[in-house]
Amino acid sequence: MSSLTPASPELNCWLQTNDVLPTAFAERKALMPMWGAQMVPPTAWPAITQRIVSAPIKPSTLAYFHIPFCANRCVFCGFYRNAWQAEHGTPYVDRLIAELEFEASQRPAGGSINAVYFGGGTPTALSEADLCRLLAAVRRTLPLSDDCEITIEGRISHFSLAKAQACLAAGANRISIGVQSFDSQLRRRLGRQHSGEDAATYLRQLCEQTDAVIVADLMFGLPGQDDAKWTHDLDVALSLGLSGLDLYAFNCFPNLPINRMLEKGALPPLLDLATQCRHYAYAVRRLLAAGWTQLSNSHFASPSPNRYERNRYNQAIKSGQDCLAFGSGAGGCHAGYSYQVQGNLDDYLATPLEQKPIAFLAATSPQKQAFALIQGALEAGQFASALFAPYPVLLTQLHQWQQQGLLTIEQDQITLTIGGRFWAPTMIRELAQLITPPEETPCPTPTMSHPHSVASKKPHSLNA
Ligand SMILES: C[S@@+](CC[C@H](N)C(=O)[O-])C[C@H]1O[C@@H](n2cnc3c(N)ncnc32)[C@H](O)[C@@H]1O
Ligand code: SF4
Repeated sequence: MSSLTPASPELNCWLQTNDVLPTAFAERKALMPMWGAQMVPPTAWPAITQRIVSAPIKPSTLAYFHIPFCANRCVFCGFYRNAWQAEHGTPYVDRLIAELEFEASQRPAGGSINAVYFGGGTPTALSEADLCRLLAAVRRTLPLSDDCEITIEGRISHFSLAKAQACLAAGANRISIGVQSFDSQLRRRLGRQHSGEDAATYLRQLCEQTDAVIVADLMFGLPGQDDAKWTHDLDVALSLGLSGLDLYAFNCFPNLPINRMLEKGALPPLLDLATQCRHYAYAVRRLLAAGWTQLSNSHFASPSPNRYERNRYNQAIKSGQDCLAFGSGAGGCHAGYSYQVQGNLDDYLATPLEQKPIAFLAATSPQKQAFALIQGALEAGQFASALFAPYPVLLTQLHQWQQQGLLTIEQDQITLTIGGRFWAPTMIRELAQLITPPEETPCPTPTMSHPHSVASKKPHSLNA
């Protein structure tokens, strides 16, 4: 069920032609991360795993570390895997470092890693000592480039400013904090532990204390997040001195706890698609007017001169860059294979130290590799039409979308409109379906489609 919210004039006055195209598609749905991957039979896993862990690292490879713990389950989130208990941290980090050291012992020297991402779950739940020794192990065992982006993702709970500073001193240079909304009442209903004011104060102080890149995630389209709440979220986000902002459209997957609350009437109904489109367009217009740069459909960099936000990991992962994966539930791709590390925590911890705990393996088809470039281009929102020259069928589709106002084609340049940017996940999916896919294999735990963790999302292409 969805509610049709009347549009407020304050918000509507920001909008322009082709900013809001709610009827362009029936649903906003992303491509399965495993599209175009070809299942490897389990009997072949040991040999292929050995090939993966011993393959040389190419230049500009990524590394992802999954920390699958959360202090509580937020009702909107599909990334939750294991309840956090303080005594979990040290044995988990011990095993993670062992995984890192085992792979380092198998690989030839060389190559370079130019972005590292600690995602979750909640990496910031780990103790300061465990976070710092993990960062030290990463710097010791991986060939990090001099300008490597190193991101720690998390939330403000259990992440004091002193702990954040310790992570920066230990080598992290980017912190990404999930806020979702600054509205305290909405946050309480979503299962967030601090008020919106606490979140804003924390981020303001962190930005004042460091020149490192500080990024926040906001979600739009949450039940009860009306025009007033959304404009307030943007007002606050713009006032904090952040380096970057992610805007994620709420995806109401069937198995989320929030569905039970919606059924019982404990939350207002879901927002209609037109409101989601308007809220996205309004946010893009507000950020552009404030001098921010749109780096991808969901990510924005602030104009602040002393904070150089690159968003390198998130952009590269969406373009199919090789990524080494470590930790229970992490997903990666390397040496021509996509793989997932054992998501069952007990099985992960029990795996012998000289063995990579693999739970899923698939070969990357040439088609998937080629399509990743198209996917990355649509995520960026601007690209050369030459990219589509080998695919006349896709170019025809792009021309149809131009008629619908989803994009413009000028000379050799294709640019998504703001309305088109909202629909990019669906457009990517539709383009993929126009190319005959090789044997498609389902994601083992398809709760969310995140590029880097089994339980997700992100990975890769969850969001707007
Ligand atoms: C892997 S989660 C980690 C968040 C972090 N642990 C926290 O508590 O904020 C990264 C981001 O995914 C986004 N996200 C989570 N559930 C989502 C959903 N159902 N739809 C869209 N985005 C979602 C949120 O913005 C969140 O900050
Ligand atoms: S939002 Fe963060 S803390 Fe909450 S369940 Fe998701 S990953 Fe865990």
